[in-house]
Amino acid sequence: MSAPNIETIVSLAKRRGFVYPASEIYGGLGSAWDYGPLGVELANNIKNKWWNWLVHERDDIEGIDSAIIQNRLLWKYSGHETTFSDPLVDCRACKGRYRFDKLQDVKCPLDPSVCAGSGKDCDLTPPRDFNLMFRTTIGAVSTDEDESALAYLRPETAQGIFVNFANVLNTSRRKLPFGIAQIGKSFRNEVTPGNFIFRTREFEQMEMEYFCRAEDAPRLHQEWIDSFVGWFRSLGVSVKNLKLYEQQKNELAHYAARCVDILYRFFPERDDETKQWDELMGIANRTDFDLKTHSKKPEDAEGKRLNPDSTEDLSYFDEATKQRFYPYCIEPAAGVNRALLAILMDAYSEKTNDKGEMRVILKLSPQLAPIKVAVLPLAKNKPELVEMAKSIKRDLQPSMRTVYDDTGGIGKLYARQDEIGTPFCVTVDHESLVDGAVTLRDRDSWAQERINLSVLEDSLQKRLG
Ligand code: GAP
Repeated sequence: MSAPNIETIVSLAKRRGFVYPASEIYGGLGSAWDYGPLGVELANNIKNKWWNWLVHERDDIEGIDSAIIQNRLLWKYSGHETTFSDPLVDCRACKGRYRFDKLQDVKCPLDPSVCAGSGKDCDLTPPRDFNLMFRTTIGAVSTDEDESALAYLRPETAQGIFVNFANVLNTSRRKLPFGIAQIGKSFRNEVTPGNFIFRTREFEQMEMEYFCRAEDAPRLHQEWIDSFVGWFRSLGVSVKNLKLYEQQKNELAHYAARCVDILYRFFPERDDETKQWDELMGIANRTDFDLKTHSKKPEDAEGKRLNPDSTEDLSYFDEATKQRFYPYCIEPAAGVNRALLAILMDAYSEKTNDKGEMRVILKLSPQLAPIKVAVLPLAKNKPELVEMAKSIKRDLQPSMRTVYDDTGGIGKLYARQDEIGTPFCVTVDHESLVDGAVTLRDRDSWAQERINLSVLEDSLQKRLG
């Protein structure tokens, strides 16, 4: 099974320390979230899997970490200043503010039986464009109105990659095809954020730009779509909760030749099956738009430079054919937060114990589990058991994330570890003091086996994969 709805995960996440509402003690900040001790471990594990898979295990991708605040001109030529906006409407009746293209996803506050805009009293203004970039000012002397000091928080990590294309090419001596990967925070002043960490104004992206020849782009695009479905599957996300969506011509961003979204079943509780799905990540063929638009050379029909501000030409010289051109780019763009939500929802399951009590088990892939092993003494008032359990914890810790816990009876301790997805518990009992063996308990099957301390670490390593 997987979680019946996002609310189930919201409450588990708060109760167990994955995700908390941000600035909660001051009433929160609508749709901002903080990651707790387990959430930060899970997010780091997802990011490390992505980074290792793309940057370390392959031979054709480099990583970078570009600045969040860039020269404003970058956002002029990328098109974000003029086109990165959502259609906004106000309702004169309820005073609500909505995205015109998402009215069907919001309930009318005056008449919750219908979508926003459909209630009998709804009175919407005509839609107007609202730019999603967060504005800030740079420098000690600037005022909020000072246009020359205006800067933006990046709304995507991708542009930091494009403007570094020549730097990476020259320093790494790459040949096409090759990619540049980046993980980092992005910011969008979303009109209607919501659904927990699904849509927030501050979020984290894992983006990779794979540069190639125009003629190879359609084939490579399809290969990356298949690879990313495989990647989510390898993290334990079940195939029945994943599907592909081919963006229609009228939905494509102006620079994209094709874009396919990987959807996850984020809303399984909705009666209409088509409304159960939403975007987990997008994989676009961005053509040569970005490298061209940031380059100093391209000219219009009258010979006028299209970008008079750039000092660099981001073209590529092919030694074999002696041709110079702007590479195409395939972009798999994923959100860390949406991936984390999908992984938590997919891992959620319930099981009834022999006393008829319902238990939550988070069947996280062992590679992603925030804690790999919990070492538990059977009785906390027996110093020899406590000492032995703490010493096992210390021995395992360098090679796998291990915790020690003695804050409850053994049944309660097992239940707590099941609920946070810890794949294995190691229990130290009175026998252990005599035979040097411990009980190894499996999270999913609840099966227990006796195992000698001399082989414990090896055995756990093998099982964790
Ligand atoms: N560079 C391309 C790009 O940014 P996008 O589809 O706008 O494409 C990529 O964003 C991914 O980033 C999305 O599929 C989603 O996972 C994540 N994302 C975008 N906006 C988000 C938001 N407001 N909150 C959480 N995640 C978001």
